[in-house]
Amino acid sequence: MSNDKKTMIVTPWEVSGEVDYDKLIVNFGTNKLTEELKQKMAKYAGFLHPQLRRDVFFSHRDLDWWISNYENDKKVGLYTGRGPSGDVHLGHLLPWIFTKYLQDAFDADLYFQMTDDEKFLVKENLTLEQAISYTYENALDVIACGMKVGKTFIFSDTEDIAQIYKLGLKVSKKITLSTAKAVFGFTDSDNIGLTWYPALQAMTCFLQSDREKQNIPCLIPAAIDQDPYWRVTRDIAEKLGFYKPAQIHGKFLPGLQQGGKMSASQPETAIFTTDTPEIALKKVMAAFTGGRETIKLHKELGGNPEICNIYAYYYFLFEEDDKKLYEIEAGCRSGNLMCGECKARLGKKIKEFLIDFQKKREKAKDNLQDYFLKEMK
Ligand code: TYM
Repeated sequence: MSNDKKTMIVTPWEVSGEVDYDKLIVNFGTNKLTEELKQKMAKYAGFLHPQLRRDVFFSHRDLDWWISNYENDKKVGLYTGRGPSGDVHLGHLLPWIFTKYLQDAFDADLYFQMTDDEKFLVKENLTLEQAISYTYENALDVIACGMKVGKTFIFSDTEDIAQIYKLGLKVSKKITLSTAKAVFGFTDSDNIGLTWYPALQAMTCFLQSDREKQNIPCLIPAAIDQDPYWRVTRDIAEKLGFYKPAQIHGKFLPGLQQGGKMSASQPETAIFTTDTPEIALKKVMAAFTGGRETIKLHKELGGNPEICNIYAYYYFLFEEDDKKLYEIEAGCRSGNLMCGECKARLGKKIKEFLIDFQKKREKAKDNLQDYFLKEMK
């Protein structure tokens, strides 16, 4: 699908144009995350996460209700996922890092869905065997984010189908084709697998409740591209005797080129957790910045951090210290901080991050199966 730079498109399969997050709150009918809610999360976590402080997570539905259940000593659950079509990039890690924060704060079980079926159906050139093998590869990244063993249940839609199909079927009976068409824009030329798939992504909202035979409030941390699924799910939840799932929505980490989110379909503009530090550094040094065309002009006029992806990486992930972040911003605006230096500093931080993350990812191979969903006894 082609799109000019200005038109905003945010769907589970495409994010392009300039994303206006305030507009999405209105269009999707969600609520802005309030200071009070942020402070509540901070209270149970013991600290205010940088992603909250900086409004990376910015919107929600029923988060207040989900937290109040926890406060009333009710068990609460978490659900998030991944479409395993390739290696994991830094953008995917954003919601997972935040999910770990929530898991620790609320002592919640996490159901983590690997939608190898979805990616096989969507991607022309991806074989089913490749998608399934990415399920296990990507699971290493999930574990490397620090999810708790015994409280994290990863599953593959294809390989673990016996554990999810019955519930998926019950969900699918409540969603009409016209709803699926209206929400996801399916057309007659789409394959029929795709039109059924949303039932499985919706299903996981109820999986913990179904397995434990009690209604457990479910919260989904994810970027806002996944929201159409939750609108459909919320409409049918009560018909099936479950609570409506709550959501907390994140913003998109941009790619290394101008505009758009980090996307695996443009590998030269994304940093993957499996990139060697040297390759990552090369990508960073070639990135789009908010700097001027020449050093002379940059010194005279200063740069623009608002449109700079290098600054965005500091902001989203790589500079947690607000004071240091401000120094980068001010240095850029005044023209004292040159893009080359700013990129090199970021490259160093990303290199350190990758070395550490890759060690954790390697270690995750030792007990990968301990994180996978088992049949309920
Ligand atoms: P997928 O694999 O496209 O994305 C996985 C998660 O990463 C988020 N995300 C991003 N976040 C910030 N910046 C980015 N550049 C960026 N790109 C992707 C997505 O919002 C998502 O949270 N259909 C889903 C798989 C899925 C799922 C779920 C995701 C099944 N159940 C429940 C979230 C919650 C998919 O293909 O995600």
